[in-house]
Amino acid sequence: MKKTEHNLSLAFAAESKASARNAVFAMKAQKDGYPQIAHLFRAVAEAESVHARRFLRLMRGKIGSTEENIETAFQHEIKANAEAYPKMIQDAAEEGMKMIKEAFVESRDVESMHADLYKNALNDLLSDQQTEYYVCRICGFVSKETAPDRCPVCGAVKEKFKQIE
Ligand code: FE2
Ligand code: FE2
Ligand code: FE2
Repeated sequence: MKKTEHNLSLAFAAESKASARNAVFAMKAQKDGYPQIAHLFRAVAEAESVHARRFLRLMRGKIGSTEENIETAFQHEIKANAEAYPKMIQDAAEEGMKMIKEAFVESRDVESMHADLYKNALNDLLSDQQTEYYVCRICGFVSKETAPDRCPVCGAVKEKFKQIE
């Protein structure tokens, strides 16, 4: 049981990575002019995501009530913003990795905005007010109601925003 709990968490992490990796391979294949291969990569990315979600659902104590899950998601954002990224930003700066540092900085900033979204969500848990969300495909900034002309975090144009169903 103990080994299996650990293996579930390993499998969840590996499948999550495989899904993201295949999605990026798909973008590359598309760019290289292989739309059919891109299609295949997207299919397998989706399949690996099915595996990741299946394992997460089987892990004990990971999924709570929606109220608890909002709190968990909030804590993850806070931790990423306050603990994980600051150290990575410092390392990237030390090593002169300018673009990577910028990606870490933007991600750190965006995580605290995600935290705010969850904080507000906790307040209107019971209101059934309909909100539209638009996500910046470059930095992950989430905009409510409309896509901005320019992303306030990374400067991406409106067309880079994806409306969430
Ligand atoms: Fe898989
Ligand atoms: Fe986040
Ligand atoms: Fe952005």
